[in-house]
Amino acid sequence: MRESQRSPIGVFDSGVGGLTVLRELYRKLPDESILYFADTARLPYGTRSQGEIVQFVREIVTWMIQQKVKMVIMACNTSSALALETIRDEFSPLPILGIILPGARAAVQRGKRIGVIATPATAQSNAYAQAIQEIDPTAQVWQVGCPEFVPLIEQNRILDPYTLKVAQEYIKPLLHKKIDTLIYGCTHYQHLEPVFKSFLPNSVQLIDPAKYFVLAIEKELELMGLKNTYAPRATRFGVSGHPQQFAQVSQRWLGFVPHVEKIYLPISLTPKSVSVPLKVETE
Ligand code: DGL
Repeated sequence: MRESQRSPIGVFDSGVGGLTVLRELYRKLPDESILYFADTARLPYGTRSQGEIVQFVREIVTWMIQQKVKMVIMACNTSSALALETIRDEFSPLPILGIILPGARAAVQRGKRIGVIATPATAQSNAYAQAIQEIDPTAQVWQVGCPEFVPLIEQNRILDPYTLKVAQEYIKPLLHKKIDTLIYGCTHYQHLEPVFKSFLPNSVQLIDPAKYFVLAIEKELELMGLKNTYAPRATRFGVSGHPQQFAQVSQRWLGFVPHVEKIYLPISLTPKSVSVPLKVETE
């Protein structure tokens, strides 16, 4: 077996949202070793500028390469919408996968009137509408930015009545548009599923892109001959913020208390900025 097959897959998000992708990875690809990183010190990403998000992702991928990952998974819609192309370009040939396309593909197979709830940055980027309409130009798409969701989830306030009120407010305009499909355009939102289900009509199909993302990841691993056929190692968890806080919030989603390391990210220069030619003195 090639050594790279045994290497971990690097999975990252700003916080516990990526655990919805991690859980799908555990279900569908139990033989893979995983390195999970949550950038909790700089969360939420969804109200950041594109420049900030690209730089954060650059630092995460640089660190993951030092940890010898064989592939990077952006378990974060905001990073996938705003940084995927730049980062792929900078770190080529490392395989780097984003979540938007698999989510968009799944949605067009189910509906024609598609609502997307996402972070403000993802909604403004128009990434879902573009991806959906490229696949099916007849599909209609409405995107809503939901800035309050991520902080509420990270604070473990899923069952707080306030969260239900906020969710109803965000989704109301989509229901007025008579959507038949709703995409969770942020990996955190699957954690709110009981809240959504408590008021959404049954006619609205819920799409969790994480499920389809993992199928795309499996295909890519097969295609590249990178699937692990050896015994996997335990998942390694790292955060830029407080390890204990992350461990406490995530145990609810993982079903166990993870051991979490504090990671100090290396601040990286982009390969492009490094390769700026030196000024030659001619006189
Ligand atoms: N979970 C991420 C996403 O899918 C990021 C949320 C945030 O930090 O705002 O967009």
